Amino acid sequence: MTEASGVRADERAAEQPTVLVTGGSRGLGLALCRRYAARGARVALCGRDEVALERARLELAALGAHVLALACDVADPTAVRQLVAAVEERLGAVDVLVNNAAVMTVGPASLQGVAEMERLMDVAFWGAVHATFEVLPAMRARGSGTIVNVTSIGGRVSTPHLIAYNAAKAAFLSFSEGLAAEERREGIHVLTVIPGFIRTGSEVRVRVVGDEEAERRWFEPGARLPLLAVRPDRAARRIVDAAERGRRALVLTPLAQVVSRTAALSPTLTGLVLDGVNRLLPPPPPPA
Ligand SMILES: NC(=O)c1ccc[n+]([C@@H]2O[C@H](COP(=O)([O-])OP(=O)(O)OC[C@H]3O[C@@H](n4cnc5c(N)ncnc54)[C@H](OP(=O)(O)O)[C@@H]3O)[C@@H](O)[C@H]2O)c1
Repeated sequence: MTEASGVRADERAAEQPTVLVTGGSRGLGLALCRRYAARGARVALCGRDEVALERARLELAALGAHVLALACDVADPTAVRQLVAAVEERLGAVDVLVNNAAVMTVGPASLQGVAEMERLMDVAFWGAVHATFEVLPAMRARGSGTIVNVTSIGGRVSTPHLIAYNAAKAAFLSFSEGLAAEERREGIHVLTVIPGFIRTGSEVRVRVVGDEEAERRWFEPGARLPLLAVRPDRAARRIVDAAERGRRALVLTPLAQVVSRTAALSPTLTGLVLDGVNRLLPPPPPPA
């Protein structure tokens, strides 16, 4: 467990909200931490890699933020309970929870199998559920709080070769939208973020099953195209603005908006497009 505080942060600590960002050590999560830090929040973040956490902690502390960076695997419910308890003890009750941590696997569903389905579900769905239920009782008792759920357009439209990821995000999306309705009268605001591609560089870290070279050839360029993907700092600004304005949903990137609307209006057309996409993707190897 590591902590840093700047002089300015200590001076204004009393009125600062406490924000907890899961997966805050890099990518969109770190961009969100920067954004909240710049707005004067006390920022807690978690991830599994202690080196990345320390790098993020130093950067945020240099901005003058009161920051707590803790190693935690959100797939482990006990670790999540300890994380929230440590944040409450060191920074105070969590005012804003951002469920952002996720991992991804690319490749045919037949090769991903049950193990990958479970692994992705444990992080992107159960990780968010555990964190949410850890902070909800205190938020309810105060009659206020914000929960920002970073899902994916894959949770709306399940593209081939990303099925475990999409399924976990679909479950998370459903959880988030239902929770928003249930908790509204308790004074708790839930924002469901549905991003398309964000240029975080995460595409190089995804796990690939099957023909790795062929899978990376289609997956990686899409995530980097300036016209298809949004910059993480811009995505973070739009997410924090949407949360502060009390918006229920935010679909990030024009392409994700088109995909989301088309899927709602015409499931048949969407299915035909997905069939076409699948024909362009590398086939699974023949059974041995
Ligand atoms: N990038 C995109 O194009 C895109 C598109 C749609 C949706 N999204 C969603 O946006 C969010 C952020 O994506 P990103 O591109 O910024 O990802 P990223 O760069 O891979 O960062 C993921 C973060 O989550 C942490 N993390 C992963 N597994 C974890 C676990 N089990 N417990 C705790 N922390 C964990 C990582 O740290 P450690 O690895 O050290 O644990 C890291 O801090 C994700 O929910 C992703 O699904 C991204």
